[in-house]
Amino acid sequence: MDKEQKYIEVSQQVLAVTEGESSLIARMATVSCLLSEAFDDFFWTGFYLVDEAKGDELVVGPYQGSLGCLRIAFGRGVCGAAAAHGQTQVVDNVHDFPGHIACDSRSLSEIVVPVFTPAGKLIALLDVDSESVATFDEIDQRYLEQMMADVFARCTLGSD
Ligand code: SME
Repeated sequence: MDKEQKYIEVSQQVLAVTEGESSLIARMATVSCLLSEAFDDFFWTGFYLVDEAKGDELVVGPYQGSLGCLRIAFGRGVCGAAAAHGQTQVVDNVHDFPGHIACDSRSLSEIVVPVFTPAGKLIALLDVDSESVATFDEIDQRYLEQMMADVFARCTLGSD
């Protein structure tokens, strides 16, 4: 099965499982699990949430993979850049990314997709890391951005 077909199937699965679920955390846990199960090269798959109390800091949320950094300042590393700019980051080799945070030295490429409320407020980031270089491309970006828009369409922080 090619990558696009896998994304189409896993996107339908995520929407079916999370339908009617109001918990943001339950939605994030489901996305992390199903994406990680669907793609063999997804080495770390999970979320960083905007820490409302601190405002300019991310705190780790549900994930699948090895131990992740607990907190990341806005502007630091790939996640911090995605948070600061509000734009998806696709990085072919993290060693070429200024200020990259090495939570696990096995991670070589990554994609980070911002999660917004329908009102446009940044609430979290989806971070997927791979042990190979250049795993992610515009296909991953397109399907993951669409999945984040669909899954978190009605969520706000504190909706648990
Ligand atoms: N790679 C990220 C840090 C988080 S982890 O890899 C789980 C970054 O540079 O933002």
